[in-house]
Amino acid sequence: MARGNASQPEYTRPRQIVGAKWRSFRQKPPDDQHAALFRPTALDLVSADGRSIAPLLTLRALRVQSAMGRGRSRPLIVEAEDGETYVAKLSHTDRTARRLTVEVIAGQIAKVLGLPQPAMALLVIDPAIDAPDLTPEKRAELDVARGPAFGSQMLPGAVSLRRKGDFVLDPRLAAEIVWFDSLVVNHDRKERNPNILVSDQQAWMIDNDSAMALHHRWCEPSRQDAYAICPDCGLMWWDPKDHVLLPLAGSVEEAGDQLAPRLSPELIETIAGQPPEPWIQAGFPPGGPIDARQMYVEFLVHRLSLRKDFERHADHLRIHGVCAAR
Ligand SMILES: Nc1ncnc2c1ncn2[C@@H]1O[C@H](COP(=O)(O)OP(=O)(O)O)[C@@H](O)[C@H]1O
Ligand SMILES: [Mg+2]
Repeated sequence: MARGNASQPEYTRPRQIVGAKWRSFRQKPPDDQHAALFRPTALDLVSADGRSIAPLLTLRALRVQSAMGRGRSRPLIVEAEDGETYVAKLSHTDRTARRLTVEVIAGQIAKVLGLPQPAMALLVIDPAIDAPDLTPEKRAELDVARGPAFGSQMLPGAVSLRRKGDFVLDPRLAAEIVWFDSLVVNHDRKERNPNILVSDQQAWMIDNDSAMALHHRWCEPSRQDAYAICPDCGLMWWDPKDHVLLPLAGSVEEAGDQLAPRLSPELIETIAGQPPEPWIQAGFPPGGPIDARQMYVEFLVHRLSLRKDFERHADHLRIHGVCAAR
């Protein structure tokens, strides 16, 4: 299976991706300390039905602005060398390292599926970077963070879907997002906190880091919990009854027929190889009972094999408001 940096190709396509601002930055050599932290990479992907996907870039952070006033993690606002601004989350604890691992895995899957989400990047932040506006707590998180930050390119004028009561979402897109969340088992798109932003009259998915939450227990002996079932219908653990988009969604089964051919076990394996090794090491201590990347592959391949079940389950809930077994 592809692992960590060994499988990462050289970073060869900056110009076509980020344009003139990149060129002017490249003319300025990085200082030595920062250069030591920075390994430029561009992780490529091709979907199972042959479409090539924008690479996941590693970028150097140039400036850290304040922290966001929103979200559980209060992410940082970071300017990167491509001239873009990113909302950045840090891997400062074992738990956040696992969450970022899932941001990348789920985010790459969403990208392959063609779902709307801001561009992602891995952001290398020099611990000595000038960040005068940070609170001591945030500064401490930055100091102990392992590996790069996860960056989601800042959407201009973004407003939470919750505040956009009049926003009309295409039922097909809503069904596709429900399908995706069912696949990666993401319970974090509820009415109170949809983790869907509206910017430029478009809906954008953000914040996939609560997906596959059972990975927080993978180091415990009861691994089979990863495949636990829904207490209501006995089918499976995932229950999308509180999903903010379920009432707006069209057929989840049709969405699955459209999306599933873009994934394959091989592609899932490639994606599971992409989160940076320091996150994996922080989240799953070396010498522990499991091979985390392999567990993500097993889990997602298993979910994909269950797709007809979770599609019917979601459609039954959507139409009748209760689990199929009731
Ligand atoms: N790409 C983005 N563009 C604009 N705002 C964003 C973006 N990503 C996140 N945010 C804002 O930051 C908040 C926290 O980010 P989120 O990814 O939801 O982290 P958390 O895991 O802390 O909830 C979001 O609720 C949203 O307001
Ligand atoms: Mg959030």
